[in-house]
Amino acid sequence: MSDAASLKRKAAEAAAAELTDGMNIGIGTGSTAEEFVRVLAGKVKDGFTMMGVATSERTEKLCRELGVPLKTLDELPILDVTVDGADELDGDLRLVKGGGGALLREKIVAFASTRMIVIADRSKKVETLGAFPLPIEVNGFGLTSTFMAIRRAGEKLGLEGEIVLRKSGDDPYITDSGHLILDASFGRIPDPEALDAALKAIPGIVEHGLFIKLADLAILAGEDGIETIEA
Ligand code: A5P
Repeated sequence: MSDAASLKRKAAEAAAAELTDGMNIGIGTGSTAEEFVRVLAGKVKDGFTMMGVATSERTEKLCRELGVPLKTLDELPILDVTVDGADELDGDLRLVKGGGGALLREKIVAFASTRMIVIADRSKKVETLGAFPLPIEVNGFGLTSTFMAIRRAGEKLGLEGEIVLRKSGDDPYITDSGHLILDASFGRIPDPEALDAALKAIPGIVEHGLFIKLADLAILAGEDGIETIEA
């Protein structure tokens, strides 16, 4: 296992230690969340009882392959905990997510959960969000208008930078819910709450990758051990 993968595994194991028998668990998307799925599958094999809700088709497939039992969010509309990765997080547990394209389902599942635990290697922690381009899930209808509205909203907050349509090969990337993603390289985002509100006001935006007041605990694995941040 590479060093990076082993840090992800350590964070995943620390999150698994927070779980208790019988929990309903939201399961995130991305390489760190996949380490959590592997740890969870091991626990299930050892007799741990739980039911999961996957945040993406990719996670659902891995859970099914490894024998992690799943239901839909409609079958389990209130979850005890969600464990998910992040592309960036700051000391106030504000996150950027969606690098893997699953931000809409991730946010719906996190919101339906009593507790959200973020797992990551420590390199994901930043002073100020924004080094990672902000993923914004948009409806395909009126894409150019939405694109321009995002640019205007950013400029009003002093945020400029390239906004690009995410591609999968030569084609636009399509999310599990059939939408497009614009990646906005705003640089530093000193006021994530203001950007959150400005983006929410744009009708063509389905959801964006700023997760504010959703995470309760971050477990960050580094070479010298685990750091935690609590809300
Ligand atoms: C998926 O849409 C994302 O939000 C991921 O949770 C995030 O990109 C973290 O992924 P890694 O664990 O692969 O860095």
